[in-house]
Amino acid sequence: MAFLFKSSAERGRVWGEAFARLAPDVPFRTWPDIGDAADIRYLAAWTVTRDLLHGLPNLEVLFSVGAGVDQLDLSQVPAPVKVVRMMEPGLTDGMVQYATFATLALHREMLDYRQAQADHRWAPRPLLPADGRRVGVMGLGNLGKAVLAALRPFGFPLRGWSRSGGTVEGVEIFAGADALPAFLSGCDILICLLPLTGDTRGILCRKSFHLLPRGAAIINVGRGGHLVEADLLAALDSGHLSGAVIDVLNTEPAAADHPFWSHPRILLTPHVASQTRDDSSAEVLIANIRRHQAGQTMQGQVDRTRGY
Ligand SMILES: NC(=O)c1ccc[n+]([C@@H]2O[C@H](COP(=O)([O-])OP(=O)(O)OC[C@H]3O[C@@H](n4cnc5c(N)ncnc54)[C@H](OP(=O)(O)O)[C@@H]3O)[C@@H](O)[C@H]2O)c1
Repeated sequence: MAFLFKSSAERGRVWGEAFARLAPDVPFRTWPDIGDAADIRYLAAWTVTRDLLHGLPNLEVLFSVGAGVDQLDLSQVPAPVKVVRMMEPGLTDGMVQYATFATLALHREMLDYRQAQADHRWAPRPLLPADGRRVGVMGLGNLGKAVLAALRPFGFPLRGWSRSGGTVEGVEIFAGADALPAFLSGCDILICLLPLTGDTRGILCRKSFHLLPRGAAIINVGRGGHLVEADLLAALDSGHLSGAVIDVLNTEPAAADHPFWSHPRILLTPHVASQTRDDSSAEVLIANIRRHQAGQTMQGQVDRTRGY
């Protein structure tokens, strides 16, 4: 019963130490030195090849080292293998910080002040109180809910949208595709925290932008595949949207001539909104192995039919 690690060397060092301390009964192996492939019950990786997956006859769980599983081709993962995405406090903390920063940057019109500074213009603007700026979050999972909780004390009117709805204290909730237009119509700042699936690919598109109020701004911290980049440029250039904070792109890293690099209404960051933290993620992963061994559902276990 061994664990196979296939990710960065530094994370491997931290995780190897955590396994030695917390799970000495689970031998820790680092790809490509897998030893006897028949021993491997658990595999943690960002991406895996079909050959690797099918060369592990006793694999029980595939752990993604990131918050999503969209980088994996789930159709290549043998049916009995459980798939688990990363849900750990370091990832949540990073996302809360980034989404709060991006919301405040847009609310406090930092794109305009960035331009004014570049132009040497001293150009104060009236300050809109937070209760005049409606913020909406698409995706009410682990991260979406944490971001909403962090934004609440500022006084923004908050709304959230997800497949199944539910309740979140202090947040107006919209559920399902039919409710998307009503949700979007009340978002001055829209934050995308959806997983990338067949249903959500391209959801930030011309049609959605036109359902947002004129002057709205977007923050994409989901995946690059959520955004139709040409539609964002058109909506910004027409003035319908006022700005965007973009952390993820369809193709990363951005090409040298990508139009987002120099767009005055876009703040672009290189997929850094949050990152799996090596120490806290090791503990979460080992706790999940223990759950699995006890026949319990693991935290972050993916519903393979839904794709998230
Ligand atoms: N930029 C970065 O650095 C970074 C870092 C971490 C994560 N992320 C992204 O953030 C995403 C969200 O993470 P999470 O941990 O919060 O995920 P999660 O817990 O799985 O939550 C996903 C949420 O999205 C909703 N959803 C899924 N499909 C939908 C659809 N078709 N229509 C409406 N709602 C839908 C789900 O609705 P239900 O509640 O009804 O199931 C759920 O509320 C990840 O998948 C990843 O892509 C980005």
